[in-house]
Amino acid sequence: MNLKGKVAIVTGAGRGLGKGIAAKLAKEGAKVIVSDIVAENAEECAKEIKAEGGEATAFCGNVAKLEDVNAAFDAAVNTYGKIDIVVNNAGINKDAMLHKMADEQWNAVIAVNLTGTFYMTREAAKRMREQGSGRIINISSMSWMGNIGQSNYAASKAGVIGLTKTAARELAKKDVTCNAICPGFIETDMTRGVPEKVWDLMISKIPAGRAGSPEDVGNLVAFLASDEASYINGQIIEVSGGMVL
Ligand code: NAI
Repeated sequence: MNLKGKVAIVTGAGRGLGKGIAAKLAKEGAKVIVSDIVAENAEECAKEIKAEGGEATAFCGNVAKLEDVNAAFDAAVNTYGKIDIVVNNAGINKDAMLHKMADEQWNAVIAVNLTGTFYMTREAAKRMREQGSGRIINISSMSWMGNIGQSNYAASKAGVIGLTKTAARELAKKDVTCNAICPGFIETDMTRGVPEKVWDLMISKIPAGRAGSPEDVGNLVAFLASDEASYINGQIIEVSGGMVL
């Protein structure tokens, strides 16, 4: 998986999955715009990548704000001259049972997870169509199939799958692919917050017997971003240790 000369944007790359993805892309030779809403985390991630001999630039922005999305693409083009890979990883959850779900919880999750991914994918589509190449990789979730307490999150992640498949159909002739990854249960700040009982229950459902790591997801992102994956398009790929078989 040689990504030498490729330029990537990874959203939500200040910590967790996004950080692991950014590090892996950089390790494979990509120049990475490390984007996050938390500036110091984006800077720390870029610093760590550079310390490992990689190339990265921190960018602070909110994927749910159109002007920040445009600025992220401009940062990539101004710094590295083009954009080849977009990884839409930024995401949040605000869980509640449906009958208790507040409008604020619904709107906030849809704004970041779905509208943010739409803004990024639309901008990528415009630029990659012109370029005649590109890779868009959207981080969905196995919760897209429905999960108790996550009607907002599940709806946003199911929306990402519809968006991914449509982008794949529309962009295929321009040599641009768009795929989605559904991580299972990955150890990050998002999942470390769950009660111990829930943690144990989740692990008991995983044939691999362990939570995944950001690197497990980063490995697949790097492959999908590579030239070798040019004939894989519109797919939903799980990285879950075999959680659903
Ligand atoms: P996390 O909460 O540890 O990290 C999310 C990152 O996104 C943070 O750095 C945060 O500052 C950033 N972010 C949040 N809102 C943003 C916004 N509006 N604009 C830009 N950046 C923003 O979460 P984690 O676990 O690393 O999750 C990453 C992605 O993977 C999310 O989309 C999540 O839904 C998805 N996912 C995670 C799973 C897991 O087991 N950890 C399982 C399935 C999906």
